Amino acid sequence: MNSFRFDDAIEGIRMSPIVSISEEAKHKEPEFFNRTGKKMVLFQRGEIDFPTPKYIVDAAMMALELGKTKYPKSGGEDELKDAVIKKLSYFNRAEGFSRDNVVCTYGGQEGLELLFKLFQCKKGAGFAPCWSCVLENFVPYAQTDFAEVPLREDFTIDFDELERIIRDSSFFYLNTPQNPTGKLFTEDEVIRIAELCHKHGVFLISDEAYETITFDGHRHFSPLSLKFDNIISVFTLSKTYSMTGWRVGYAVSRNKRIIELLRLGNYTQTAGVTTFVQYAAKEALSNHAESDRHIKLMNEEFCRRRDSLYEGLSSIPGIKVNMPSGAFYLFPDFGDLIPQKLSLNDRKLYIYHRLLDNGVVSVYGACFGKFFNDHIRLSYSATPHDVIEEGINRIKNAVQ
Ligand SMILES: Cc1ncc(COP(=O)(O)O)c(C=O)c1O
Repeated sequence: MNSFRFDDAIEGIRMSPIVSISEEAKHKEPEFFNRTGKKMVLFQRGEIDFPTPKYIVDAAMMALELGKTKYPKSGGEDELKDAVIKKLSYFNRAEGFSRDNVVCTYGGQEGLELLFKLFQCKKGAGFAPCWSCVLENFVPYAQTDFAEVPLREDFTIDFDELERIIRDSSFFYLNTPQNPTGKLFTEDEVIRIAELCHKHGVFLISDEAYETITFDGHRHFSPLSLKFDNIISVFTLSKTYSMTGWRVGYAVSRNKRIIELLRLGNYTQTAGVTTFVQYAAKEALSNHAESDRHIKLMNEEFCRRRDSLYEGLSSIPGIKVNMPSGAFYLFPDFGDLIPQKLSLNDRKLYIYHRLLDNGVVSVYGACFGKFFNDHIRLSYSATPHDVIEEGINRIKNAVQ
C-alpha cells in the first residue's frame, strides 16, 4: 500500500500548528485542572466568541424558504455581487466595479489558495511575520518560492529591502490588518507598496480578512481604491460577521482576466459557494444599519480586550510589545527572558512551554516565519476581559 505515489504538492501541505497546539492544550487540561482547580486560559484561537448576528441568520432561513437551494451561479449570485460592489463604494471608497470584477469564494482561504495556485512554482513574497496558513499550506500547495521580507522591530517597513525582493517576484502577499501582529498598514504604506508592485509588474494579493476590525479611529485602507489592474483583494465574512463556519468570501480586481481564472478554478474545485449562504452574505453586506451596529459593538469589546492585554504585557519587565491598531492579535517579543544557552529548537518553544505549564495557551512565533523564535502570538478573539487578567497574572508567574 505504501508504494502509491501521490501528488508532491498536496503531500507537502503541513497541518496548521494552531490545530496541534489546541490538541496539546486539550491533552494538558485535566492535569492542569487537577493541580490548580482552574481552567486553561486560551489565547491561541482566531475564532470570535460572538454569535453570527441574527439578521444574517434570518436572511439564511428566508433564502431557504424561498427555495434558494439549487446550484449556485458560477462565480457567484448576481445579488451578492451587486451587494459587494455597493459595499466597496460604501466601506472601501473603491469605485468603478461591475459583476465581472467580483468572484464569490469559500471564505478568504479558497480565494487565497486559488491565487497562489495561479502563480504555481513562481516566486512570491510577503512580509514576515506572515499568517501561518500561507507558509504551511499555500506555499507548499502551489510550490511557491516564497521570500519573507522582515518588518522592523516596531513593525514598520524597510522599503529598500522590500523593493530589492519585490523586483524578482511574480506576486506580493499583503495582509492588513495583519495576522499575527495586529498591525494596520497606513494608507501611505499601502499606496507605496502598491506603487512598487506596479512599477515592477508584480501582482499584489491583498488579504483584507480583518478590514473592519480597527481601533482608535483608524480605518483600513484597501489598495482596491487605486486604479491599478495588478491588484486583487480577498475578503471574507468570517471575521467581520462571526461567520467562520459559513465559508463565504469574495475576491475583487480591476483585472477581469484574473477574476475569470478564479471563477474557473472555483467552479472546478467546489462548483460555487452554497446558494442560500450567498443570499445571507448579501444581506450581511447590504443592511448597513445592522452591519454598522454589529461592527461597532464588536470593535468596542475587542478594543477593551486589546487594552487590557497590551497594558498587562507592557507591565512585565523583559517583554517588548507593540500596540496594534487592528485584528485581534498581539505579537510580543520575549527574547530578553529566554536563556542564551538554549539550542535554536529549544529556544523557539521555551516561552510557549513555560506559558502552557502555567495554564496559558499561545502560539509560538516560529509558526509565522523564520525570524520569530522569540515571539508569541496571543489572540483575544474569544478571551473575555476577566480571563485576560487571569492570563496576565499567569504569564507574570511563568516568566519570573
Ligand atoms: C490573515 C487571514 N487571512 C484569511 C483568513 C481566512 O479566513 P476564512 O477562510 O475563514 O475566510 C484568515 C483566517 O484566520 C486569516 O487569519
